[in-house]
Amino acid sequence: MSDFSRFVSQHKAALIVSAVVGVTTVAGTVYYLNQQKQLPPSPPPSSKKSKNKRKKQNKKKKASEAKTTLYPVDPQTGLPKITDEIVNTLSDEEKSSWALSLKESGNEYFKKKDFETAIAYYTNALQCRIDPVFYANRSACYAALDKDDKVVEDTTEALKINPSYNKCLLRRAHAYENMEKYPDAMFDLTALTIHGGMNDHSNEVMLERVLKKHSLRIDQEEYSNLPKELPSASSLSSFFGAFAPPDIDLDESKHSRSLRRS
Ligand SMILES: *[C@@H]1O[C@H](CO)[C@@H](O)[C@H](O)[C@H]1NC(C)=O
Repeated sequence: MSDFSRFVSQHKAALIVSAVVGVTTVAGTVYYLNQQKQLPPSPPPSSKKSKNKRKKQNKKKKASEAKTTLYPVDPQTGLPKITDEIVNTLSDEEKSSWALSLKESGNEYFKKKDFETAIAYYTNALQCRIDPVFYANRSACYAALDKDDKVVEDTTEALKINPSYNKCLLRRAHAYENMEKYPDAMFDLTALTIHGGMNDHSNEVMLERVLKKHSLRIDQEEYSNLPKELPSASSLSSFFGAFAPPDIDLDESKHSRSLRRS
């Protein structure tokens, strides 16, 4: 077999996919072929141990090859170029494999903290197939970028499909807390506790924290109408001191402790 015919037979599937999709414009093909040529030739097999190792490496290489060949890529940006028109030509199986491949790339960019690129990949994965995991993954990127409203959007989509998706409940609760939508955060945390998901203790801690912030804000709102000039601390203590019998323990911390317990 000549090098070229071996190349064609090895990459038949990818070539067919590109042809179906219509990316086999001359420029696209030339780009594709050049990409492939740059891959180093695989060394001849030797011992069994290194063979296994190589198998792993080949697997890895195959995965990254699939990324550049499975779906069309914009040669300018290197990002996938997926439109609804293209997706409509795919079988369900192809849609799934494209989606998984796109999601995996998204995960890789997420690990590299390139959240914008990861978002692009997850968005493309969602174009191929709606999956709550892809929404969840994308919401993780938005969380990392402090885009709380987007976190709420994506986790809400995921929860519509899978209402007991604990990771999404927790992530949405955090976003709501950041947005100072405390009752919404408490709602999610309560659902999380009912599902018995995640770390019960950290749920409790978070619920308590959100509750505190919420009641603090209610206090502030209710008392904001009161006159701003309150009596000074010293005049208050002498006021209360006047009513306290001399043998009463005025240590405040003890009182609040016993209050909290009851
Ligand atoms: C994407 O979702 C999968 C499955 O839940 C998970 O293993 C992976 O860590 C997620 N990646 C990100 C970036 O959230």
